This record gives sequence, C-alpha cells and structure tokens, in this order.
Amino acid sequence: MRVVVTGGQGALGSQVVSALRTMGHEAVSASRRSGVDLRSGAGLEEVVRGAEAVVHTADTTSPRSYAAVTVGGTRRVLEAAARQPSPPHVVTISIVGVDHHPYSYYRAKRAAELLVEQSVQPATVVRATQFHSLAAFFARVGRIGPVALGLRGLRIQPVDIGWVGQRLAEIATGARPDGPARERDLTGPDRFDLSGLTRLVAEHAGRRPPRVLELPAHGGAMRAFVDGTILPGPEAEVGGESFTDWLARQPRRLRGR
Ligand SMILES: NC(=O)c1ccc[n+]([C@@H]2O[C@H](COP(=O)([O-])OP(=O)(O)OC[C@H]3O[C@@H](n4cnc5c(N)ncnc54)[C@H](OP(=O)(O)O)[C@@H]3O)[C@@H](O)[C@H]2O)c1
Repeated sequence: MRVVVTGGQGALGSQVVSALRTMGHEAVSASRRSGVDLRSGAGLEEVVRGAEAVVHTADTTSPRSYAAVTVGGTRRVLEAAARQPSPPHVVTISIVGVDHHPYSYYRAKRAAELLVEQSVQPATVVRATQFHSLAAFFARVGRIGPVALGLRGLRIQPVDIGWVGQRLAEIATGARPDGPARERDLTGPDRFDLSGLTRLVAEHAGRRPPRVLELPAHGGAMRAFVDGTILPGPEAEVGGESFTDWLARQPRRLRGR
C-alpha cells in the first residue's frame, strides 16, 4: 500500500515510516524537507495523488503557527485527500484530553480534530498521551541544583513513541472507515507523579534526586495539567515499552523533549 506520512522525518513520523516499511508498505515522507509545506499547501496535492492512506503527524512547535499549521495544515491535508478520485484514509494524531484543556496548543489540536469529525471522508483521529521523552523533559525542566520546582498534583502516563508509530501504521493500513472515526486512545503501562518521575530521571543521570517543591497550579491551563485532564480513561489501549525500560536505554545525559 502507498502511504504518505506528513512529518515523516519527525520524531513520530519517522517511527510510522519505519513501521510501514517493516510491514512491506511504500511509505512516502511529506514535509518541507521534501518540498511539501502544509502552511501553503505547496506540493501536497502531488504527494497525496495515488496514496491509499495518509498518516498526518506534521505539526509545529511555534505558537504563532498553530492556526496556519496545526489547524490549517490538517484542513489542507483533508481537502487534498478529499479531492482524489478515491480519497485516501487520513489518520491524524492528537493528544489525550485536548477537548477539556485551555492550553493554546491543545485548543489548536482540538480544532484540528473537529475538522476530521466534521468531514465526510474516511478519516480517523488517534489520541496519545505524552511520549516518554516529554515526560523525562518535564522531570528535568524545573530542576535548580538540589531542588526542583513542579506542579502539585501533576500526574502523567507516558507512552512509547515507537509503539504509537506502529499503531498508526496498522490503523492506516487496516480497515478503512466510511467517514470520520475515532480510535481508542493510546497510552503506556505506568502512571507517575512528578516526584516519582523526577527521582527516576535523576537516578538515571547518576545524580541525587532533588527535593521537589510542589507549587499550586494557577490559571486554567495549569489546573488542567494537574486535574487529570491529560490522563487516559479506562478504555484506552495500553501498550509499548514502559517508561523505566525506555529510560534504561537512554544516554545518561538526556536532551531535548
Ligand atoms: N510529543 C508528545 O508527547 C506528543 C504526544 C501525543 C501526540 N503528539 C503529536 O505528535 C505529532 C508529532 O510530534 P513530533 O514530536 O513527531 O514532532 P516533530 O518531531 O517536531 O516533527 C514534526 C514534523 O512536522 C514537519 N513540519 C513542521 N512544519 C511543517 C510545515 N509547515 N509543512 C510540512 N511539514 C511541517 C517537520 O518537518 P520539516 O521541518 O521537514 O517540515 C517535522 O518533521 C504532533 O502532532 C503532536 O501533537 C505528540
């Protein structure tokens, strides 16, 4: 099957590409590096032509581009797919809890989901929790010497990005829905509070775990991070490598998010 992966060289997209190739499919990466720009739609029509599925993982980290890329890019992918004589199944990645979260990025992800829900073509939303690397970033970012600042009540159930990529590849190449659809949320096996995560990450780096100073959440977005909004429900699909197994495979000095 020919499958286009937007953002196919990104952290998640590259996992989708490699899963598709292992499954014997033709995976075509589409992003600015390959001449496809979701902000303008340049190159999109050409790359989607003849595809049987599109896995849409491309996104921006720049708040100024949420409207044009997170939302507008999803609209352009759906429109390019819908214009094909036989529209490919579009599978988009979203984040658990975005429908109840005021954080601006999550609001943009929800707006992108709504475009899928309101479309009439085969299109599926798949939500995942935070990837292990992002959870590890949360555990490092507030550290100042022997103490770490964190949000009181923050809990997180991170997931293995490789498994999410594998599931997206399977969903894209599996049975197509007739119209818009939603798959079960994807999450990992373990739930952590910030102190637990911070301790694991510090021990991994060979450092004494910091004393975590837990600050109360201020404002709607912060409160939504601590009130369980980002946690998966009981119906979520659980799988992939655990956070501790993932951490054990990482270099002592973690980088990025
Ligand atoms: N991080 C998490 O914990 C998490 C959890 C759940 C869901 N997700 C979702 O996973 C998705 C992928 O995240 P990621 O970590 O893989 O991101 P990433 O590594 O930053 O990759 C994003 C890709 O998008 C492409 N891109 C950016 N702007 C573009 C544009 N204007 N036109 C075309 N392509 C563009 C980039 O390639 P070029 O530079 O070549 O354009 C890049 O490879 C996002 O939708 C995110 O919401 C993330």
